[in-house]
Amino acid sequence: MRDEILDLKDYKKIAVMGGTFDPIHYGHLVAAETVRHRLGIEKVLFVPTGRPPHKNNRNVEHDEHRYLMTVLATANNPYFNVSRIEIDRPGMTYTIDTIQSLKKICSDETEIFFITGADAINEIMTWKRVGELLRICNFVAVTRPGYDKDSLLRNMTGVENDYRINITFIEVPALAISSTDIRNRVIAEIPIKYLLPDEVEQYIIKFGLYKTAFENKPFFTFINQKLHTVLTPERFAHTQGVAYEAVNLAKVWGVSAEKAYIAGLLHDCAKDFDDKETLSLCYDYGVELDEIIKRQLYLAHSFLGAAVAEKEYLVTDSEILNAIKYHTTGRAEMSFLEKIIYIADMIEPNRPFYSGIDDIRKAAYEDIDKAVYLALKQTVDFNNGRNRIIHPLSVLAMNYYENHFIASK
Ligand SMILES: [Fe+2]
Ligand SMILES: [Fe+2]
Repeated sequence: MRDEILDLKDYKKIAVMGGTFDPIHYGHLVAAETVRHRLGIEKVLFVPTGRPPHKNNRNVEHDEHRYLMTVLATANNPYFNVSRIEIDRPGMTYTIDTIQSLKKICSDETEIFFITGADAINEIMTWKRVGELLRICNFVAVTRPGYDKDSLLRNMTGVENDYRINITFIEVPALAISSTDIRNRVIAEIPIKYLLPDEVEQYIIKFGLYKTAFENKPFFTFINQKLHTVLTPERFAHTQGVAYEAVNLAKVWGVSAEKAYIAGLLHDCAKDFDDKETLSLCYDYGVELDEIIKRQLYLAHSFLGAAVAEKEYLVTDSEILNAIKYHTTGRAEMSFLEKIIYIADMIEPNRPFYSGIDDIRKAAYEDIDKAVYLALKQTVDFNNGRNRIIHPLSVLAMNYYENHFIASK
């Protein structure tokens, strides 16, 4: 499809609004319009991102959806245009390359502003040739009202003082809307109306975007709707990733995909309670916590999770409940479903990259005991590094799978 960028030579001030726009929503649009008005920008270019470093699962068909939704959302604003510059460029996407390409089609006097969320600033400072990037364009960080930008600036590590003064902060009230939450709502069948333009909503419905639920059953909708109210948007997305990965693993290892889906969805159902709620629910549901868990209460969510799944989500299957119960510590002689949830939690598609994840991913589909051993080792090393006490169940599991894995070689 033809790029909308034709000629930027006549403009003195343009802004680039980068983002995945998956999907684009009113938060993005209000931010762009606010910056345009406040800084006297003549043209805002929405640039759907291509392939960022560290993400290799590029989906070309989905890139086209993101682009078209952005076109639909911006069509009625004469100051807004959409560019294919990043989604059409092969290889990794670096912002510096985008800005330099744009400079070539601007006049020498054109000032370029780069609009980004304030939360992304720290990450941006790790980008390729960030010094050069900050020299050739002006950064505009959009924030929620009341955002503590002073502490952000204090915490910016490795950034020279003169970079900091190049950042303009602008408050935008609508920034509580998030693409993650919109995707989560679609999965849980919760309305997305008034969070994004009608045209984009219709587009999502027409093409069935974000419907990742493995089957449409009232029980699954019940679980997803309830989880949507108790989990943070990020945790809900993680949960969907674990359920998706668990279903794939279940098909390979001959386990019920339905059980894997339910266990994956519910494995962290008790993780977003605060300490007080966790302790009082453990008391209510008769979940006994040993001394090590009491001292490291983050471990309680899997034991409490099994009880919550039973009492509040009406799960009666003991295999599913055990998969939830042991997903944090693991244990020796785990069932296939327990192993699948333990591993899916570590390798689901939304997991940020960590060294060793590729080996666990590969082993998960070839030699599941090896994957369990690698995942346990990864977790134990991580917790040792944080001076945490390793739970005896994890120590036993580690020894068991180490021997098991070595003996099978
Ligand atoms: Fe967990
Ligand atoms: Fe998890």
